Amino acid sequence: MSFERNIIITGGAGFIGSHVVRLFVEKYPQYHIINLDKLTYAGNLANLKDIEDRPNYTFIKADICDFETVKRVISENGVDGIIHLAAESHVDRSITDPFVFAKTNVLGTLTLLQAAREYWEPQGWEGKRFYHISTDEVYGALELTRPEGDPDGNECGGGPYGEDFFTEENKYQPHSPYSAAKASSDHFVRAYYDTYGMPTIVTNCSNNYGPYQFPEKLIPLFINNIRNRKPLPVYGRGENVRDWLYVEDHARAIDLIFHEGKVAQTYNIGGFNEWKNIDLIKVLIRTTDKLLGRPEGSDDDLITFVTDRKGHDLRYAIDSTKLKTELGWEPSLQFEEGIEKTVRWYLDNQDWLDNVTSGDYQNYYSKMYDSR
Ligand code: NAD
Ligand code: TYD
Repeated sequence: MSFERNIIITGGAGFIGSHVVRLFVEKYPQYHIINLDKLTYAGNLANLKDIEDRPNYTFIKADICDFETVKRVISENGVDGIIHLAAESHVDRSITDPFVFAKTNVLGTLTLLQAAREYWEPQGWEGKRFYHISTDEVYGALELTRPEGDPDGNECGGGPYGEDFFTEENKYQPHSPYSAAKASSDHFVRAYYDTYGMPTIVTNCSNNYGPYQFPEKLIPLFINNIRNRKPLPVYGRGENVRDWLYVEDHARAIDLIFHEGKVAQTYNIGGFNEWKNIDLIKVLIRTTDKLLGRPEGSDDDLITFVTDRKGHDLRYAIDSTKLKTELGWEPSLQFEEGIEKTVRWYLDNQDWLDNVTSGDYQNYYSKMYDSR
C-alpha cells in the first residue's frame, strides 16, 4: 500500500503520544503512522486498542537509542516526518535515577536525529520534517509575585500568580535532571538545523492532563487515591503553581505545527491556566466526590503534606501568544470541563488503572514512599 506520507511518532504508547497517534491515524488515512516505542513502564498499548487494526497504523517496539534499528525503520518505510515524544518524563524519577534520563532524552534524541540525517541528507531536505516535543520546564521557574492569586492577573499583565510568563525568548535554566536532559535534547535538535540544515521544529508545552496519563503524575494519582480513600501526598505546602492544558488540545497544536509551523522555529504551547497545587487538589476532591455520589468535602482529610520535592520549581506559566497569532491555535476546553471529563474517564476505566499500576511500578512506588 502506498501512502502520501510516512511518519514516525516516537513514544506513541505513552500519555501524550497515544493522543497524537490516534488523532493522526483517524484524521489522515492517507498517511502511514508508525508508532515507535520501547514500551517502558510508561508505555501501554492498551492506550491505542481502538485504532490498532487500522490499515494506516503500524506499531514497532524499539528503543530510540538503538541506531541501527531506528535507521532501518526510517529507510525501509521511506519516512519523511518524525514527531518525537519518546522520553523519560517524570521529575521524581529523574531525581532518583538521572542516568536513564540522559540516555533516553539526550542520546535517544541524538540517535534519531543522526539516523534521520543519514537517510534524508542524500535525498535533500525538501519535504522532510523533524518535530521535537519539549517542555516549559527547560525555562526554569518563575517567581510567585502574586501569592494570593489575582483573578484579574491575565488582564493587568502576566498571570494570576505573577507578572511574567515564559516566552520563546526565555533563556534555558533547567533545574531538575529531567528538564536538564530535555534542554540538552532541544539544543541538539536546533544544532541539527544550524549545522546541517535539517528542517526541525521545537515546541515547549506546559503540564498536560487527561485520559491515559500514567498514575505517578499528580492528577491521575490523586483521582485514584481519592477513589480508594488513600492519602494524597502534597509536596511542601502545595504552593507551587502549574499551567494546565488538556491533552487533546496539545495534540491539536502538534498537528497544526507539524503541518504549518515554520522550520527552525520554537512555539510555546499553554492554556493560560495557572493553578496552585492545593487549589487544584481541592477541585479534584470536589469533582471526584460529586461523581462518586459522596457528600462534598468528605475526602478533604486525605490531604497529607509531605516533604517537598528536591529543587521543586515554584511556578510555570506559558505565553502561547505566538502560536495563537501565527497559526490561530487556542485551547478549546475550559478547565472545569476538562477536569470533569478527566475524573470521569479515570473512574470509568479502573481496569486500565489496575493494569498499569501492577507489577514493577507498584514495587517502585512503594519503595519511594517508604523512604519519605
Ligand atoms: P510518558 O512518560 O507518558 O510516555 C513516554 C513514552 O516514551 C512511553 O510510551 C515510553 O514507553 C516511551 N519511551 C521511553 N523511553 C523510550 C525509548 N528509549 N525508546 C522508545 N520509546 C521510549 O510521557 P508523556 O507525558 O506522554 O510525554 C511525552 C513527551 O512530551 C515527552 O517528551 C515529554 O517531555 C513531553 N512533555 C510532557 C508534558 C506532560 O505534562 N506530560 C508536558 C510537556 C512536554
Ligand atoms: P507532576 O504531575 O509530577 O508534574 P511536574 O512535576 O512535571 O510539574 O507534578 C505536578 C505538581 O504536583 C508539581 O508541583 C509537584 C506536585 N506533586 C505533589 O504535590 N504530589 C505528588 O504526589 C506529585 C506526583 C506531584
